[in-house]
Amino acid sequence: MSSNKHHDLHFESQLIHPPGDGDDIYGDVVVPIHLTTTYAQPAFAQPPRYDYSRGGNPTRQVVEDQIARLEGGCGGLAFATGMAAITAVLSLFEPGDELLIPNNIYGGTFRVLSRYFERFGLKHRFVDVADLAAVEAAFGAVSPSPKAIVFESPTNPLLAVADIAAVSDIAHGHQALAIVDNTFLSPYLQRPLELGADVSLHSATKFLGGHSDVLAGLVAVRDEALFHKLHFIQYSTGGTLSAFDSYLLSRGIKTLAVRLDRQVANAQRIAEWLEEQPQVSRVYYPGLPSHPGYEVHKRQAAGAGSLLSLELAPGRDPQRFAQALRLVTLAESLGAVESLICHPATMTHASIPAPLRAEMGINERLLRLSIGIEHPDDLLADLEQALAAI
Ligand SMILES: Cc1ncc(COP(=O)(O)O)c(C=O)c1O
Repeated sequence: MSSNKHHDLHFESQLIHPPGDGDDIYGDVVVPIHLTTTYAQPAFAQPPRYDYSRGGNPTRQVVEDQIARLEGGCGGLAFATGMAAITAVLSLFEPGDELLIPNNIYGGTFRVLSRYFERFGLKHRFVDVADLAAVEAAFGAVSPSPKAIVFESPTNPLLAVADIAAVSDIAHGHQALAIVDNTFLSPYLQRPLELGADVSLHSATKFLGGHSDVLAGLVAVRDEALFHKLHFIQYSTGGTLSAFDSYLLSRGIKTLAVRLDRQVANAQRIAEWLEEQPQVSRVYYPGLPSHPGYEVHKRQAAGAGSLLSLELAPGRDPQRFAQALRLVTLAESLGAVESLICHPATMTHASIPAPLRAEMGINERLLRLSIGIEHPDDLLADLEQALAAI
């Protein structure tokens, strides 16, 4: 790991001053982009700190050390996409192992498990992660018991909240790993490793990058032995983040706190407003006291995030609503400065078979909003005119 002269700073200041900041001989104020693929070696069998950029690169190292520090882990790893990060983490397991996952996990995680890893004998089973008795029962239901629980809190797109500390405790009681996809909140709002999870991972494409201009995945790990296993997987399979994208990501991370402060305030106001609208039958947002996970979320996270889902009232056309919006763009993805809307049934969760989708509660009238940093009055005006149009 790089030197860290800033370990005693507040989180917001750590964002601006990553570990290794100031290591560069010229005193660069921003992270230099080291495009080199290889490094001069002084002699045979005397590898320098970096020898080949798949194994390590100084620009990538900055974001790897940064995510480790921000999440409170012993090490971090940066990948080309969130899915590359998830694939590396799932590669920890063996044929015949079983994993527990919530049934409304991100569609891409479900797809890679059901259509890729299953071919190699890695099994998965659904569990309601918001129900601790169900999690305990699921671990005890088969022998050998599941090797890990892979979950999100809040979940995508229904924002169900799992008690990360309690779920991690249950997993550890069965010698299993607790792996949290922390994409929806980022370490600014929630730090799963501090709550007891073993791995916290991100689609850094979202809040950490923050500007819809870089695909990236980040993993932070609590335990050294696990970190070394994952580093080996990263090095051997090669889905690493490029130097240029590492730079973009390091730039995005600097403004995480200020962006999120605005995004969360906007989302809270919009969620409260949507709850009052007759064209909306249900709002899913963990910052609303009506949300079943409100108390648990408040205990384990520093804010409710900027993702919210809404179900239009029967008879209201979700497509017309989405197309009537002028400021909010109909697009995949989330977490960046601009507000986006998506239709999970045909977009993010289209890879989930329709009957299973219905069982999960993702119906055709469900829409997910990712609230950006626009002025809240403009966002409310846009939503209001689009609701009036349906
Ligand atoms: C919760 C969550 N995890 C993982 C991913 C996958 O990340 P990426 O698109 O960077 O591969 C996404 C992408 O939408 C996501 O929303």
